[in-house]
Amino acid sequence: MATRYWISVTAILLVGQAIQPSYGGPSITVMADRPGPKISPTMWGLFFEDINFGADGGLYAELVKNRGFEFPEPLMGWVKLSPSLAQGQVSIREDDPFDPANPHYVRIESAGTAPLGLCNQGFRGIGVRAGRTYDLSAWVRIVNGSPSVIAQLVSEDGVTLARATLQVAGPGWTKCKAVLQPTETDPKARLYVLIEGKGIVDLDMISLFPRDTWKGRPGGLRADLVQMLADLRPGFLRFPGGCIVEGSDLSKRYQWKNTIGPVEKRQCLINRWNYEFLHRPTPDYYQSFGLGFFEFFQLCEDIGAEPLPILNCGMACQFNSGELVPLDQLDPYIQDALDLIEFANGPVTSTWGQKRAQMGHPEPFNLKMLGIGNEQWGPQYIERYERFAKAIKARYPQIQLVAAAGPDPDGQRFDYLWPQLRRLKADIVDEHYYRPPAWFLDNTDRYDKYDRNGPKVFAGEYAAQSIQTVSPRNRNNWLCALAEAAMMTGFERNADVVVMASYAPLFAHEDAWQWRPNLIWFDNLNVYGTPNYYVQKLFSTNRGDVVVPVELDGVPLATNGRPRLYASASLDQKAKELIVKVVNATGNGLAVSMKITGISQPRSPANIITMAADPEDENSVANPTKVSPVNSTFQISGPEFTYAFKPYSLTILRIGQGS
Ligand code: AHR
Repeated sequence: MATRYWISVTAILLVGQAIQPSYGGPSITVMADRPGPKISPTMWGLFFEDINFGADGGLYAELVKNRGFEFPEPLMGWVKLSPSLAQGQVSIREDDPFDPANPHYVRIESAGTAPLGLCNQGFRGIGVRAGRTYDLSAWVRIVNGSPSVIAQLVSEDGVTLARATLQVAGPGWTKCKAVLQPTETDPKARLYVLIEGKGIVDLDMISLFPRDTWKGRPGGLRADLVQMLADLRPGFLRFPGGCIVEGSDLSKRYQWKNTIGPVEKRQCLINRWNYEFLHRPTPDYYQSFGLGFFEFFQLCEDIGAEPLPILNCGMACQFNSGELVPLDQLDPYIQDALDLIEFANGPVTSTWGQKRAQMGHPEPFNLKMLGIGNEQWGPQYIERYERFAKAIKARYPQIQLVAAAGPDPDGQRFDYLWPQLRRLKADIVDEHYYRPPAWFLDNTDRYDKYDRNGPKVFAGEYAAQSIQTVSPRNRNNWLCALAEAAMMTGFERNADVVVMASYAPLFAHEDAWQWRPNLIWFDNLNVYGTPNYYVQKLFSTNRGDVVVPVELDGVPLATNGRPRLYASASLDQKAKELIVKVVNATGNGLAVSMKITGISQPRSPANIITMAADPEDENSVANPTKVSPVNSTFQISGPEFTYAFKPYSLTILRIGQGS
């Protein structure tokens, strides 16, 4: 014991911090003999929204922007290539397209022999890796002559990295394919589509995918990004947003039925994050819906997450137009919800179950939860929620409904909504908090006071904001992540109330973001997890099955009298381990007296996972794991011991029963 204490003090001195003086020293008692409520397997999950190029330009692996020429400016993302020796023109046409759902196409008319065509810029460039295979496809119609149709990947500085000729099988529109294998890696390559020789060629749906998508699915998702999600072992995936569900007006709302079936038929829609922020306009941001509801369900299945779709409830974003569907015209919206449940769960003989089967998934997706509206508020929401709930529960009583608690964790809107939702016996209420780190540190006991018999809580969107909400200067630094970790100990301690939680937003493209902070950052070739990501990962992969009470004494206090040492504990029944999570949000190393009741002889050594860093530290493409977990072990000789928690640290102790 004495030796171990000495080691602890040495460790504290090594990190150059003094022990908190004078108050007798903090202690944590963990009552492993008093297992409490179950922790929901859905506790730690994901919130996905197509913001920051999260879907198009991100998770959806398509490398060509505006592949169907259906943006309002049909050549957005494309540049005409008409070198001085070329003769002819490139134009957009609408007559006799390959599919009426995709009316615009490009015509290249060459009267000379020099190459003529156009170039796609991708999503802030096209990321390609040397030697990898990229599958190009396009709908092509040779109108006149017999020119060659060429595809090339060209580096940022103009060098051809790969070239292929498209074999056009016959007259009329034909889908052609070619394979491109670049000789060099380039994060910002471009795709050239050219014709060589005199003639006229029509082209549409010019598409390029890496062969190595997630699970090798043609037209699928970016494998490295999905892997990051899978590694979190998420309990659920909430999709497709976010404000994107609502639309700035109702014409721009997310309509799931427009996102299934053949991709060529999915009609592109402006992304609300295209124009939301004056300070981050993104005029080339549109939704192709290549990642649509079928793919979301499939992704959930792949990564073992319960699907949680959120549907528009007849209200556009109340920060924008706040447009409302009159109550007597709400039926089609409610029908969309009923049809979605059938799409996910219905037999293949049902109308919507058949559509799922036609897309390749005859088995049901086992949808259990559905969100009604995103961040709505006011009586307008309550009267719409009530109608949705009545219709859905009448037909599908087992579906758990998630209701909105507005955009803030407190205030007038929030205070109005909760009693209403309690009255309506909502299953789960979705709370959002984008607040400074100090708010998180001060509110870890938020759910200690919640009614145990009311609706459950879904902390559906939260993230500590280092500056303030929507500031482009917010950072994903360690202080923010640590504050979230402290809050998450509060979620875990209250697992009988909080059944789900997800950080927001999930993804951001380094060159095309609108909002920060975000959980995962990527560029066209790389991806990295923020410190916040690793906090989520540690909580999720060390969840445990039941809560164990903890008692903290003598903890350091901030000047406002709020604690700055936090803990929660759970039991992993399969591994037969006690999991203790401790957050030290002070700049001092803390020697804490630990006492465990119910485990007389802890197995030694215990496994320890620590994240500790300076508050301002961040990860980056260049240094992706600067702030990340470190594994170690710790000798334990009995149920009482002292542990030295590093300054600004999250520590997880996994303690087994000794043999
Ligand atoms: O996460 C970004 C946005 O924040 C979401 O779209 C919205 O629900 C919230 O206001």
